[in-house]
Amino acid sequence: MAEKTKSSMSGDLFDLLKQDHQRIMNLFTEIIEKEEQSKDDLFSQIQQGLDLHMKGEESYLYPVLEGKEDANEMTLEAFEEHHVSKTVLDELSSMSSSDEHWMPKVKVLKELISHHVEEEENELFPLAQDILPEEQVMKIGKSIKGVMKSS
Ligand SMILES: [Fe+2]
Ligand SMILES: [Fe+2]
Repeated sequence: MAEKTKSSMSGDLFDLLKQDHQRIMNLFTEIIEKEEQSKDDLFSQIQQGLDLHMKGEESYLYPVLEGKEDANEMTLEAFEEHHVSKTVLDELSSMSSSDEHWMPKVKVLKELISHHVEEEENELFPLAQDILPEEQVMKIGKSIKGVMKSS
């Protein structure tokens, strides 16, 4: 019973992040399949989506997890994956989408993000749900929601 209450109350934060993952992965699928003309608009949606998502996690969730012995290593790796993703995002935004290297780079970014999302959803989030008190998870959820709404 306690277990059930905990997962339903803290589900908010992790559901929010998972829904955002899904939304961003769908944008990647779209940008790879779509015709030339909509690519720039889709890319700015991906860029803004990732920017706010990473900002939210890095400001409110990762610092808490970094301080927990069980989650420290996994969190440092997650920070690093964000860092690499931002580097690729920066490169993409300074290039023309008609550059022949642009779409291959978008595809590599999609693979990076997809790997990162899998690790969060299968390892980091379940661990966080286990070790963080539910009130703290709810507070983090509210803060991250605030960051995402600033778009
Ligand atoms: Fe995430
Ligand atoms: Fe992340």
